[in-house]
Amino acid sequence: MIDLSTTYMGLRLRNPIIAGSSGLTNSLDNIIKLYDAGIGGIVLKSLFEEQISQSINKTMSQNENVNAYPEALDYISHYTREQDLDRYLKLIREAKSKVDIPIIASINCVSSSEWVTFARKIQEAGADALELNIFILPSDPRRKSDQTEQLYFDIIQSVLKQVSIPVAAKISYYFSGFANTALQLSWTGISGLVLFNRFFSPDIDIDNFEITTSNVFSSPAEMSLPLRWVAMLSKRIQCDIAASTGIHDGHAVVKQLLAGAKAVQIASVLYKEGFDKVGIMLGEINRWMEKQDFNEVTEFTGMLSFREDKSMAAYERVQFMKHFSGIE
Ligand SMILES: Cc1cc2nc3c(=O)[nH]c(=O)nc-3n(C[C@H](O)[C@H](O)[C@H](O)COP(=O)(O)O)c2cc1C
Repeated sequence: MIDLSTTYMGLRLRNPIIAGSSGLTNSLDNIIKLYDAGIGGIVLKSLFEEQISQSINKTMSQNENVNAYPEALDYISHYTREQDLDRYLKLIREAKSKVDIPIIASINCVSSSEWVTFARKIQEAGADALELNIFILPSDPRRKSDQTEQLYFDIIQSVLKQVSIPVAAKISYYFSGFANTALQLSWTGISGLVLFNRFFSPDIDIDNFEITTSNVFSSPAEMSLPLRWVAMLSKRIQCDIAASTGIHDGHAVVKQLLAGAKAVQIASVLYKEGFDKVGIMLGEINRWMEKQDFNEVTEFTGMLSFREDKSMAAYERVQFMKHFSGIE
């Protein structure tokens, strides 16, 4: 009998597939549908700092960290919906009363201002965990990397002071020394790192001389970026990892688990193929486990995470030398 259950951040999941934060996880109706489709856990749509700031009558323009990062402002305004804290807390309470899987709240953070006290309200509403969607694009040439990175630590530490539920940081790969930063983040007391968030990318409309957005949804090829870092870090940092970006089928889930992820998060594939895809992906994992004679997910989780021996050198290879790639 195959058992797909696992744990992530100390939470019991019936299977390792979590619906990542997106517009699809913003309503009770969808939460119930995802549950019925077999999803292992759900990260709610992010509550954006901007909205929280508004609710305490502080405009974002008063916030010096945000002013330092206009891109963050763009990102926020793009995703922002009419959503206030009460509505969010209600969604958490209703979701917890209707479905029997972990409900992870999400807050978008660009500063460590006093709004983090709302993290406590999220905990009181019954969220099983809290994910911090932290996005600080290191685009200001005058700002040194350690100044930017310090913001991540400030945000995490101020939230950890407010709550006792597990906290994850969902981050990007825009760090100058990523492995070391990930290690240090894992020492803060967070229970999980989500690798990686994926953002809108700019494009240019050459007929109208306008800047537009492109590739809102990921492609399966994008999975190799988190795969490398999950493999590199899973045995070396002090918290769980959830893989995110480009996971579109059951075999991609298996690969991330082999690399050492405790769970995966999916969003684009749910938009593109609908909620029934969850069952198809679970079937693919099941069949692979049967074929390989595994009964439990934990039997192979981390089997191919990075070790400092020759067999794992492929994770470190980055150049297209003919000897490795067969391509010239
Ligand atoms: C339409 C859309 C809305 C999203 N909204 C959020 C959000 O509010 N908070 C967040 O942390 N991530 C958000 N994401 C990012 C996803 O959770 C996920 O990390 C990213 O899309 C990569 O996973 P995927 O390749 O499975 O799509 C959003 C993604 C999409 C496509």
